[in-house]
Amino acid sequence: MGKVTWKAGTFIYPIPAVMVSCGDMENSNIITVGWTGILNTNPAIVYISVRPERYSYNIIKEKKEFVINLTNEDLAYATDWCGVKSGAQVDKFKEMKLTKEKSQFVSAPAIKEAPVSVECKVIEEKDFGSHTTFIAEVMCINADEKYINENGSFDISKCDLIAYANGGYYKLGLKVGKFGYSVEKKAKKDEAKVVSRNPKNIKKEQNKENNFIPKLRNKKAKTSKKVDKPVRRKKK
Ligand SMILES: Cc1cc2nc3c(=O)[nH]c(=O)nc-3n(C[C@H](O)[C@H](O)[C@H](O)COP(=O)(O)O)c2cc1C
Repeated sequence: MGKVTWKAGTFIYPIPAVMVSCGDMENSNIITVGWTGILNTNPAIVYISVRPERYSYNIIKEKKEFVINLTNEDLAYATDWCGVKSGAQVDKFKEMKLTKEKSQFVSAPAIKEAPVSVECKVIEEKDFGSHTTFIAEVMCINADEKYINENGSFDISKCDLIAYANGGYYKLGLKVGKFGYSVEKKAKKDEAKVVSRNPKNIKKEQNKENNFIPKLRNKKAKTSKKVDKPVRRKKK
């Protein structure tokens, strides 16, 4: 079977559906945005594209600041709700029982419940037609400490991040690789694992393992016997 051809569109999925908070601690709003992404690494430049008819549009245009809050499974419902209701009518923080958290570099509050919040300052705007793209520099990233493991690294797999694809919200599945794994040299340990999957080798491996444990036990028993019961020789 081949591919069908559709007219031009924006079929690039999956994408993150983020909750963008804007305004300030007193008057704030949340807009769900799918048209978002990374433009540059150093300095860190990101973008969000917003339709001028959104209530959030004028807030972002005026304040030139916003916070991108990543969304996870627990926030999926609120993500959708904030993407269908307008801040012109409802207080989204209040209705979704979300907590405003003071940001460090921008006046817009972050969403405390989000695993990661990215504080952004607008550096450029570009009108492409339906949407205006707000290009922004990242001022800092606030990550929830509960996802930092004992090695001090942020374990993103524990965040339960969600993705958006063609109208649906999806949980991320199992990790299938890591950056550069396609060109990584196989570690000896991994090679051994592959070899042992060969049925011919499985029995050998099992025997090796079975032998290993009793050997250790025997050694221990022998040693303790020696220590516990010292042999005393009678003087002649
Ligand atoms: C998953 C999802 C993604 C969305 N992405 C965008 C987007 O990229 N840009 C945009 O202007 N609106 C987007 N919307 C629509 C707005 O979030 C929606 O119109 C919202 O009610 C606007 O809120 P506001 O009027 O309070 O600003 C999206 C909605 C959903 C549910």
